Amino acid sequence: DWTMAAYRDEAIEKIRAQVGDGKVICGLSGGVDSSVAAVLIHEAIGDQLTCVFVDTGLMRMGEADEVVSLFRDHYNIPLIHADESELFLSALEGVSDPEEKRKTIGRLFVEVFEKHAREVGGAKFLAQGTLYPDVIESVSVTGGPSVTIKSHHNVGGLPERMNLQLVEPLRDLFKDEVRALGRELGLPPAFVGRHPFPGPGLAIRCPGEITRDKLEILRKADAIYLDQIRRHGLYDEIWQAFAVLLPVRTVGVMGDGRTYDYACALRAVTSVDGMTADYYPFSHDFLSETATRIINEVEGVNRVTYDITSKPPGTIEWE
Ligand code: XMP
Repeated sequence: DWTMAAYRDEAIEKIRAQVGDGKVICGLSGGVDSSVAAVLIHEAIGDQLTCVFVDTGLMRMGEADEVVSLFRDHYNIPLIHADESELFLSALEGVSDPEEKRKTIGRLFVEVFEKHAREVGGAKFLAQGTLYPDVIESVSVTGGPSVTIKSHHNVGGLPERMNLQLVEPLRDLFKDEVRALGRELGLPPAFVGRHPFPGPGLAIRCPGEITRDKLEILRKADAIYLDQIRRHGLYDEIWQAFAVLLPVRTVGVMGDGRTYDYACALRAVTSVDGMTADYYPFSHDFLSETATRIINEVEGVNRVTYDITSKPPGTIEWE
């Protein structure tokens, strides 16, 4: 792709001009954006870059392994795999407000990055895969007065003060352009085509207070849902699909017994840039097969609903 080849060269020059011979830490989230940013920056400055994959305890099933193996084995880019789940999960105890979650997570991410920045010998820069829509949606509603809908930013709400300067080489791009750039950089197609995954991870897919038990249930339900979508060949038609574990228990009946378990909502949308979205029109057969599998295979869920809200007025994530 001609345009992306040119963009790539220009972006590489800009990164070199910004960081000089300084060291850069790049937070990988498992998403396309941070991966593309990392590979691009690695092309620009090689070993001055260290990637940090922070396992927040809020990742989907199998996520950590996939990301770590892609970067270590496929790219040979130095990668620190930081297991910080204790830190994040204990700080989130008792936190139920969505923005409070993002701020807590953002603050901890920066703490972790700053720690690793010192450990790699004084990195002064933090790279992130922030996209244009993240920039817009964090500051205003289109056409309206300036109101924050969600303090996006890749790692959640970044604190106002931090010791690291941001390097954000994807700031002018939309998602489809990042994917084109990823292909240009030779990222595996399956990776480039991955659905977006938010920096705060499963924390914003467990409305209300998060517990380890809820996260475990959510991970299982989500994995089955995505497995269903892949089996039915629908993954690439959908912008993003995920399960949400609702903070409500409902009464059910299984065999001869009464159950009193969580309800789970399924979300799937089509979108061009994440700014607006339509719910995906699954067939009833697909929905009932998926609901049956989740209820049978996931202990702790006895009811499944499908979210048919578009954006606007809904947002894609529930928090
Ligand atoms: P919403 O829910 O605002 O999401 O319609 C639009 C897109 O942004 C992702 N998203 C986030 N990404 N940090 C991120 O890195 C966040 O705090 C965050 N909140 C939402 C969401 O997954 C969707 O792709």
